[in-house]
Amino acid sequence: MTTFRIGYLVGSLSRESINRKLVKALIRLAPDGMTFHEIRFADLPLYNRDYDADYPAEALKFKAAIQESDAILFVTPEYNRSIPGGLKNAIDWASRPSGTNAFARKPTAVIGASPGAIGTAVAQQSLRSVLGFLNAPQMNTVEGYIQFTPGLITDDGEVTVESTEGFLRKYMMEFHAHVTRVLTVLPRDG
Ligand code: FNR
Repeated sequence: MTTFRIGYLVGSLSRESINRKLVKALIRLAPDGMTFHEIRFADLPLYNRDYDADYPAEALKFKAAIQESDAILFVTPEYNRSIPGGLKNAIDWASRPSGTNAFARKPTAVIGASPGAIGTAVAQQSLRSVLGFLNAPQMNTVEGYIQFTPGLITDDGEVTVESTEGFLRKYMMEFHAHVTRVLTVLPRDG
């Protein structure tokens, strides 16, 4: 059985992030055949195209981490009905210079948690639009809009509500199937 290397990006930089709790739960509940590594972006400078001729080391490292992952999982909060600026900045770095977009043909999935009732739905739509432009095949269903209530997931990623645990397990099974499908059908370097 192939083991896929899944890179994940946590949209929040907060020490108390509920989205970091969520990703821990997702990793715990993932089926066999996936390994996980975080791709951090907090130290990236703000992108501008003057860097295209000579990317700084941190940006080269970030972009290489995207390229070397079989698939990318985005776990993000919603900021003002979109994704946090730091995450968008990171995506912009990996998408450039023109013709070297690291997300092209890369299987992706999006999920997020918020205390609000619609659980990051608007931010996820915004991110989906970006990923569409970047030609990154997205998991369409299952959609994961997690309304985070206090204690729903512990700091270690243990889910305390059975129905939520079952849902997140299913989400990861579908993600595994999505990655398998995309990487079976599309050439990785085509
Ligand atoms: C928020 N929050 C928020 N929540 C939401 O559901 N929709 C939104 O548009 C926003 N906007 C927003 C903007 C900014 C700048 C902040 C700091 C917060 C609240 C947000 O969901 C909450 O702080 C979460 O805890 C953020 O996720 P992390 O950082 O805990 O993972």
